[in-house]
Amino acid sequence: MCKKWLERVERGFYQEHGKYLDDIQREILIRCYDSKQSYEKIATALNYSPRTINLLASQLWKLLTDVFKEKEKEKVKVTKANLRGAVKRFIDQQDLEEVDPINSTTTKTFQIFISDRSKNSEPSIAEQLRKTLQDARQATTIGQDWLQRSNKELNEYDCFLLIVSSHSVDESEIMIEELQRARESRETRPDKPLTILLIHAGSHLSLPLNHPLHKQLQDISQSECLSSSDLPILVAEIMKCLETTNESTLRGLLLLIQKLGKLKISDNWMLTYVGENQLHKLGDLVLDLKNRKIRSGYAYWGVGPTRMWTTACTDPCYHMRENIERFPDHARQLANYVNKEQYNFVSLGVGEGSKDSNIIRDFFNRDDQAKPRDDFSYLPVDMSLDMLRVAIGRIQELPSHRRIAIQRDIETKEGMAEIAHIAKVLGENRPILYGFIGNTIANVEDPEHVLNNIVQVMKSNDLLLFEAQIINDSALTNNQLQKTIQYVKEEYEGISFRQFALSALLQNSDLSVEPKERDSCYLVEVSLQPWKYGQVLQIGCCFENNTDKELYLTFPNEDTTTLGLKEKIHLYCSRKFTQGTLEHFVQATNLSILGKSLYLTNRGTGFVVMMLQRNYQN
Ligand SMILES: C[S@@+](CC[C@H](N)C(=O)[O-])C[C@H]1O[C@@H](n2cnc3c(N)ncnc32)[C@H](O)[C@@H]1O
Repeated sequence: MCKKWLERVERGFYQEHGKYLDDIQREILIRCYDSKQSYEKIATALNYSPRTINLLASQLWKLLTDVFKEKEKEKVKVTKANLRGAVKRFIDQQDLEEVDPINSTTTKTFQIFISDRSKNSEPSIAEQLRKTLQDARQATTIGQDWLQRSNKELNEYDCFLLIVSSHSVDESEIMIEELQRARESRETRPDKPLTILLIHAGSHLSLPLNHPLHKQLQDISQSECLSSSDLPILVAEIMKCLETTNESTLRGLLLLIQKLGKLKISDNWMLTYVGENQLHKLGDLVLDLKNRKIRSGYAYWGVGPTRMWTTACTDPCYHMRENIERFPDHARQLANYVNKEQYNFVSLGVGEGSKDSNIIRDFFNRDDQAKPRDDFSYLPVDMSLDMLRVAIGRIQELPSHRRIAIQRDIETKEGMAEIAHIAKVLGENRPILYGFIGNTIANVEDPEHVLNNIVQVMKSNDLLLFEAQIINDSALTNNQLQKTIQYVKEEYEGISFRQFALSALLQNSDLSVEPKERDSCYLVEVSLQPWKYGQVLQIGCCFENNTDKELYLTFPNEDTTTLGLKEKIHLYCSRKFTQGTLEHFVQATNLSILGKSLYLTNRGTGFVVMMLQRNYQN
């Protein structure tokens, strides 16, 4: 019978001690773990004296203590009595490291060779990159003698980085030779992949299209490093390439996607990259509920909130309906910034998908065919798998293998870096139109941090279609403010939005309050707040215990909490920015406004859609 736990322990044992368990050690381990047999019984079964088994067992527990030691925690001594618990903790810890490579304590070191052909002045990007890689504990060599090294030496490297700039053109002969040598090395060792990456430093390499170097570069991943502030994100990209996606895996994935395109099956499915363990997400949400504050993405996470959000978006009384209806006319005015023959579309926080369906129609359809070019890729991103499935269903004009959904949290730096990396590889290096629309920026805890994460992954010709809700300065003057606050409260008190806002709590707890009483516990708070970039109208939606008793809540993982009288759980937060505040904010986040279109009601609220581009200083 195959014992999974034993395989894991044996592997750990080998990693720690450089040898496997011997037969007698294995027997002792299995018998103590499986049936807690006494040493006497084991001795009889194995034909040893009890004293010997006692001795061998105590040596084994010592060796296992070293295998199971939890980094940064106190070393826990393994004994016969705590063996099962120790094995379980060890396996859990390993699983955690596998799903969270960023926090993994066992980072692999890669050998990276940098060939600097950029001819940049000091301090060169290559030198800075080498230092940054070394800080990330990567063994890096920088040199000009790739061609002089023996095949044996080349085989030591995991990665060949070629750094180029517009000054490298007269070195193209040598670069062709270097790339050829790297390819040859890669082909001779399928078991130890060599990642080849081209990095544009400072500016792009400008070559005529028929130049022989172009042919060499065709299937090579390319990145940019236009200034030293790009280095951390570049290093993250390199590490991602090395750790998770060597070139042959990626080529395999692309091939798979192409094959999927030939399958003659219904359109009723989606190809999804699930980047996060949903059980961890549930754990985080329960923690949020216990801390009395649900963070942005969690308010939409799961099938209940997805259903309620989708319903709210069709409710004529909810202001989102008007936004969804008016959005296409305003967004369309910015379509000319996007070259439909080149760009792919990555939608961050896709929601129920109606707006994306309009964007694809208005920005990417070719006039003569009413659909985008054949290799156009649409990558909707959302924390909620259910939301992705609803959204994908709305995008019918694309074949299923060109609609690749990504489940990932965009509020984390690693999440955004991963999304950009996937988009780049699956989109075969084409420029990207990122969509970040529907006021999602206003719902997150820290808008500056989130927008900055997005800006950091944008390449020089990527674009960002950005939308947020705005409020006119005149609606905030002393004599208008109370009326405006009342109006905005009504927007969020409407029945369909209320049902949505409560849905994350209802889906993830056993809240037992009659629907009528529950409605009286729903509260919307609106206030004018100063912010670093100007004024914002802050909106908070809460569940307040307005019943006459304490409420006991149990969550899906059996955790519990008690909500005292008048105690609140913050369900949803949002903001409306003044136009000046918003523009100040995006410009301070290193973005230029290429164009914008806005809509305002006679009450002074509405939305603005902008086309933004990252600023690059040479
Ligand atoms: C306000 S809705 C906007 C939907 C859509 N873009 C629109 O304009 O109608 C916000 C969407 O972003 C997703 N979202 C919110 N926070 C997120 C996060 N941290 N990571 C990924 N998705 C998130 C939600 O699940 C939801 O689908």
